[in-house]
Amino acid sequence: MLAGMDLHFDDPNLLLGVTDDAGVYRLDATTALVQTVDFFTPIVDDPYFFGRIAAVNALSDVYAMGARPLTALNLVAFPQGQYLDMLQAILQGGLDAIREAGAVLVGGHTIDDAEPKYGMAVTGLAHPDRIWTKAGARPGDDLYLTKPVGTGVISRGIKDAVAPEAVIAEATRSMARLNRDAAEAARACGGPDAVTDVTGFGLLGHAWEMARESGVALHIEAAAVPVLPGARELAAAGVVPGGSHANRAFVEPHLRAEGVDPVTLTLLADAVTAGGLLLALDPGRSLAFEAESRARGVDARRIGRVEAAAAMLVVSP
Ligand code: CO
Ligand code: CO
Repeated sequence: MLAGMDLHFDDPNLLLGVTDDAGVYRLDATTALVQTVDFFTPIVDDPYFFGRIAAVNALSDVYAMGARPLTALNLVAFPQGQYLDMLQAILQGGLDAIREAGAVLVGGHTIDDAEPKYGMAVTGLAHPDRIWTKAGARPGDDLYLTKPVGTGVISRGIKDAVAPEAVIAEATRSMARLNRDAAEAARACGGPDAVTDVTGFGLLGHAWEMARESGVALHIEAAAVPVLPGARELAAAGVVPGGSHANRAFVEPHLRAEGVDPVTLTLLADAVTAGGLLLALDPGRSLAFEAESRARGVDARRIGRVEAAAAMLVVSP
């Protein structure tokens, strides 16, 4: 959308702009503001969990930068004067996620809209010298993913009324979980070389961004990537959101995936909501990261490695 526009500002305190998960602005030598915004239409039928997941998704970019969430502003589009208990449940879900993140709600704005939408703008704080970016992945690093993929096809399955209850419940649980514990595990083992959160562009789309920004090849072992139960069956039946097809097309010019079946590639490109962190870690920190993750109940899986080659994605079966 911003392609071709002049995004340069002569301000030395603008540390990161539109290329990373969140904008980073230095206030002084030890403090930087980390700011992000996200909102969308309902992805589950339960209004409380829709609100909670929207908040988790918005907070996720702050965790992906290694920052601590501080304040949140609600963004609400909702049909005026209707379904007020539903709106209240959405806002309660968001509020609970904000509280759990240790942040505070400081305001918001609502507009009249026939199609409900919810999300928030989040501001966090970080030390300007300790910002995590997508750009630091180094050859030899291990790649870790902290939540399974597949929420996109399951959301599609909910809209098409073909997703089983147990499948919806597990996907909802996964999406409703903050990336706080995953980020803390990464910090506890000395920090990642690069990190991003897996959301709308899917694992492959976000992995490509990391590869491009870092100038390395990311090698993903498809069989090691965790997939939500039921997602493979839905994808095999053609229950795939448009966004996943678009993601696949977006990474295609940079992708080598010999011998990988099409359903697996669809899942790797799945347009995720509130997904996990994708981390590139010095292999000397990997065991500590796995232990720190386990201690926090985070199911972090090693899904591949970083290789010295021109920026590209390699997927092996
Ligand atoms: Co992000
Ligand atoms: Co975002």
